Amino acid sequence: MSILVTGGAGYIGSHTCVELLNAGHEIVIVDNFSNSKPESLKRITELTKKEYKFYEVDLLDASELEKVFSENEIDAVIHFAGLKAVGESVEIPLHYYYNNITGTLVLCEVMKKYNVKRLVFSSSATVYGMPEQVPISEHFPLSATNPYGRSKLVIEEILGDLYISDPEWSIVLLRYFNPIGAHSSGRIGEDPNGIPNNLMPYITQVAIGKLTELYVFGNDYPTIDGTGVRDYIHVVDLANGHIAAIQKVLESTGFNTYNLGTGRGYSVLELVSAFQNVSGQKIPFKIVERRSGDIAICYADATKAKDELGWVAKRGIEEMCGDSWKWQKQNPLGYESQKESLVGRNH
Ligand code: NAD
Ligand code: UD1
Repeated sequence: MSILVTGGAGYIGSHTCVELLNAGHEIVIVDNFSNSKPESLKRITELTKKEYKFYEVDLLDASELEKVFSENEIDAVIHFAGLKAVGESVEIPLHYYYNNITGTLVLCEVMKKYNVKRLVFSSSATVYGMPEQVPISEHFPLSATNPYGRSKLVIEEILGDLYISDPEWSIVLLRYFNPIGAHSSGRIGEDPNGIPNNLMPYITQVAIGKLTELYVFGNDYPTIDGTGVRDYIHVVDLANGHIAAIQKVLESTGFNTYNLGTGRGYSVLELVSAFQNVSGQKIPFKIVERRSGDIAICYADATKAKDELGWVAKRGIEEMCGDSWKWQKQNPLGYESQKESLVGRNH
């Protein structure tokens, strides 16, 4: 009896695999390494001292994915695998739609064939588009402003249709706010390709000297100091949200959506200041134009996850900054220096 984790070598997936293994679950990981490195899998083993099976499989390859289901007794699936860079999704929308949406369709077809009907899906706060007020609740209107966001929205709707067609399914949509931080060991963390798009990896790369200064996108928003406000959530808290969600899908049928956030917003400058205090590193910054498509304020109403999943985010902004910094300091090149293939190997 195992939980299949798609995209388990990635940032959130690897942290979730550690928490799943530590909680005593058996897991099978599938990833095509399109945005991750085999080294992250080795470190999952190192941190947990537990074994699991790994398949280097692309979700778009139905017959290879079928093998995973035929060779293992899968109970439920946590589906992280997807492409996530907003800017890139604007440049190559078809690739994003194909990978994210078709990948999910293939997965659901294979699940159906093997009578596996329990699924936790990685959605995003991006499906709220430009929210009219905060905190953001699950029942707020949904919209998309870019192909990445639209792929999430379409998948949410497809999964809703799937549940309507067959109420034996048990599906949880998790809408993440802004995951940052890393495992407290500093052994796994976020390893973006090229220049980071997101704030925290950009800050840590300035701190380590890889980038010279942070560009703050606008200081004329209606916020505490004019800079954008977000609900940053520690990736280990987020990972634990999946443990709660998997319990929910294993115990009951239904279709449920939960925000995973802390319920507290921090501005860009507040995050920079917290990071400087924790790390002792100065982060030089320059205020520049707003980034197109950005919203002023975004934070979650996470009471539904608390009431129904018994989950709350426990780690504060200092811990988030401290763990991001530890990961970056210990791995200045990310996983880069340890590239090697683990194809077909058990761990
Ligand atoms: P990530 O890129 O680190 O992890 C995704 C993993 O999926 C990667 O290891 C990648 O190689 C794999 N993958 C992609 N396409 C695949 C395919 N066709 N077949 C097999 N493997 C494939 O991203 P992450 O930050 O860990 O995000 C995980 C999920 O959470 C994604 O679906 C993302 O859209 C969603 N999400 C992330 C954030 C965030 O800020 N990180 C926020 C909201 C939602
Ligand atoms: C981004 C994605 C969003 C995704 C979310 C979580 C975009 C446009 N949106 O949102 O779809 O769901 O990540 O992964 O990419 N900032 C700077 N300088 C930087 C980087 C960011 O000032 O170099 C600011 C932004 O303007 C924002 C805040 O920092 O106010 C957070 O930015 P970011 O980490 O990119 O997350 P989101 O904008 O919330």
